[in-house]
This record gives sequence, structure tokens and C-alpha cells, in this order.
Amino acid sequence: METAGTTSAPLATIASLAQHDGQTVTLRGWLYNLRSSGKLLFPTFRDGTGTIQGIVPKAAVPEALFNTLKELQLESSLMVTGKVRADARAPSGFELDVESLEVISAVSADQPFPITLKEHGVDFLMEHRHLWVRTPRQSAILRVRATIMRAAAEYFDTNGFIRTDPPILTPNACEGTSELFEMDYFDNDKAYLTQSGQLYIEATALALGKVYSFGPTFRAEKSKTRRHLTEFWMIEPEIAFAGLDDLLELAENFLSHIVARVLESHRGDLTVIGRDATKLEAIKAPFPRISYDEAHAMLEDAFSKGLIETQHKAGDDFGSPDETYISSQFDRPVMVHRYPAAIKAFYMQPDPADPTRALCVDVLAPEGYGEIIGGSQRVDSYDLLKRRIEEHNLPLAAFEWYLDLRRYGSVPHAGFGMGIERVVAWICGLDHVRETIPFARTLNRIYP
Ligand code: 4AD
Ligand code: MG
Repeated sequence: METAGTTSAPLATIASLAQHDGQTVTLRGWLYNLRSSGKLLFPTFRDGTGTIQGIVPKAAVPEALFNTLKELQLESSLMVTGKVRADARAPSGFELDVESLEVISAVSADQPFPITLKEHGVDFLMEHRHLWVRTPRQSAILRVRATIMRAAAEYFDTNGFIRTDPPILTPNACEGTSELFEMDYFDNDKAYLTQSGQLYIEATALALGKVYSFGPTFRAEKSKTRRHLTEFWMIEPEIAFAGLDDLLELAENFLSHIVARVLESHRGDLTVIGRDATKLEAIKAPFPRISYDEAHAMLEDAFSKGLIETQHKAGDDFGSPDETYISSQFDRPVMVHRYPAAIKAFYMQPDPADPTRALCVDVLAPEGYGEIIGGSQRVDSYDLLKRRIEEHNLPLAAFEWYLDLRRYGSVPHAGFGMGIERVVAWICGLDHVRETIPFARTLNRIYP
């Protein structure tokens, strides 16, 4: 077994202490907190996998150890050796009877760690995000995020989808020209950061059948809301020979899988985050499905009863308060389908039963989290797609390659995009997406 430092004790991580009850182990990490009551010190150590409290009675340890620890500044890095003892009252289930300590890098008392256990304002914390990520709640959120990303990719990998990564530098818009980050691309050409890989994975879907993409996407949106980032991660499946109904079924199974994976391995993290896990246990397919018109009727009813402040205008998109109200009526994500074609993207297939409606879906997360998935069946007719591009005043030349997909063996196909950060916010019960990504990029912040 691997050992470290001046002791011969085996190395362990805090998350794995259950395997070491009663043994002496060495942990590598940082001093997260230190309480003292006279002749007793209670240091809390963290190592990235969790936190554990140590017990250091003055009478039981070498004097040098007691004095070093007593003066040690928070977030000093160290190796600590001690005996693991199960304790039902401890949050991690264990305590550590400290036997020896090796300081790796001591934080100077002149410049103590800026984040203390007292409350800090969000601006201060975001300004110190590089250090804020060390605190237990933020670390727990990032661990859950990693599992959500892994579970999302895993769902597609194990269900016959081929991952095909679209470009990040693109010659034209996918989701709307007003939200593009523009840059120079040699010889006076412009390039734009991608808003969605969709158009490209439509091409790979016609090559490979079932595909997905997973990567960063960018929106130069001037929206300053708790749901908007300028840089976020999107996972997008695209399927040949599929329609809206296939998409709804995929979305509910996909989301159920992700939530199940989080519940499987993050009960402790959810507790640290303060998330009520019972709310997540309800997230199982099938999910409720309502049409845009039914959602509008719900809003009318709510407005007439004084439950919402602003009246929703038939034909308009839903605002955040509308989505919040609709989603709060269900205990699992609700799939709202068939929005008016006029307010949706040019590539969406009209409903043959009512061409003023698009064969599209927005999945709204419960507890007021709003849209987490947006998708649709795609226009598969060459003539209609060309007309749509023209009606939307998009440059036809830039879309010639996209029209090729309708010239050469077009088939009905459909796909959606899910924003990882919105899903992390919902699953962790956070009130803002800025805590869902290691370094958030928003309208007013690009530091650190
Ligand atoms: O609804 P959107 O704009 O759909 C598309 O981009 C499609 N081309 C996807 C597709 O069909 N393949 O974005 C999809 C999802 C939203 O539901 C939301 O979860 C997330 O991406 N999203 C954002 N997340 C954080 N900040 C933003 N500014 C976001 N904009 C969209
Ligand atoms: Mg959308």
C-alpha cells in the first residue's frame, strides 16, 4: 500500500474512510477549519473527497504538534496521520484522532485565506471563485455536475449514439443572429462562436443514424438572469428517422437516468448542498406532456385567480415567470410541445395537423426551474427549408451545405439540446446558474 511522509501509515481519502475504521491512516489535504477549547483542538480537514474533524487533546500528543496546529492558518496544505474512529454524530460518520502532522505549505498569518466561515456577499465570492470552489458546498456541487455530465454522455453511449463533435468556430448562426460572439477569422472573414452544434450534427445524423454532441456553446445574450450564462455546456442528441414523439420519450428516459445516477452516488453531497433528495426521487418517466395551448390556458386561469402578476398573451413565448408557474404545477419535468411556429427557430418542422404550430418541445424542470431542454423535429423538405431561411433573412449562401442535407436523401429527423448548468441548478436546488460551473461567464463577469 502507498504510504507518504514521515509515517508508514497507508494513504487514504476521506471518502474511503469506511474501509479504514480503527486503522491509522495518512490523509493529504488542507486545513478547512480550526476550533479550540483550551486544551483541545478540533481541526477540520478537507481533501477534495470530503471533510473530517480531527481531535487533538494537548495531553495526548507531542507538544510541537499541538503548538504547530494551534497557529496554523486555514487552507494551509498538510499531511495528517491519525486513527480513524467511527462516530455516529460526525457528518462524515468518522473522526480522526490525530497522531502526527506534516505541513506542506503554511498560509501566512499576514495574508489569511480570504473566505471565512462567516457569510460573504455573492460578488465577493465570485471575485474569489478560484478559492470559493474549495468550500465543501461548492465542491459538492462540482462533484454532482461531473456525475450529471458523465451520466448524460453515458446514456447516449450505451443507447447506440455516436458522439460527433461539431466545430466551435462557425461561419453562421444557429439560434439567432443577435446573440453571436463575433471574431475576425483571417483575410477579413468573420467567424462566430457556436451557439449550438445542431446544424452540424444533423449532418452527422444522416451519416451515422443516432449521434450526439457535447461541448461548450456561447450566447452573447444581454440577459442578466439566474438562468443565463454567456458560455455554457450543451449536450445534443440528433436522430435520423425520428419525430417529435420519439424525442419526448428520449427526453424523459434521459433525464430519469441522470437523476437516478445522482441519487445513486451523491446522497452525502446533496445533504451538504442542502438539497431535499425526496423531490428528486419522484423524477421517473413518464413525464407529463402538455401543448403550448394547454400551457397558455393554465396561465390564463392562474392570472384570473390572481396567482400570477402578468397576463400571458396568446402566441407569445413564455417568460421566466410563466415557465416558473407552469413547471411548479408538476412534481416532475413537464414537456410543453407545439409552440407557435412564428416564435420558434427557422429549422422546426410544422405540425401537419396545424402548420401554425411547430413540432417542438421545451422541457421545464419542476420547482420553478424552467426550461432545461429545447428541441424539435427538423424541416426535412428542401423547398420549405429554403423558404424559411429566406423568410428569416438568413444568408442563403452560408446555408448551402445545410440545404444539401435535404438535397441528398433527406429523412424526418429530430433532436434536442440540454444545458448542463440549468440541470445542475435544478438537481442541486440552486437559485443561480453561476454556482453550477467552475468559472461562470456572465454579462458582467469574465474574472477570474
Ligand atoms: O433552446 P436552445 O436555444 O436550443 C438550441 O440551441 C437547439 N439548437 C438545441 C437542439 O435542438 N439541438 O438551447 C438548448 C438548451 C436550453 O434548454 C437551456 O437548457 C440551455 O440550452 N441554454 C442555456 N443555458 C445557460 N445559459 C444560456 N444562456 C442558455 N441558453 C440556452
Ligand atoms: Mg429554448
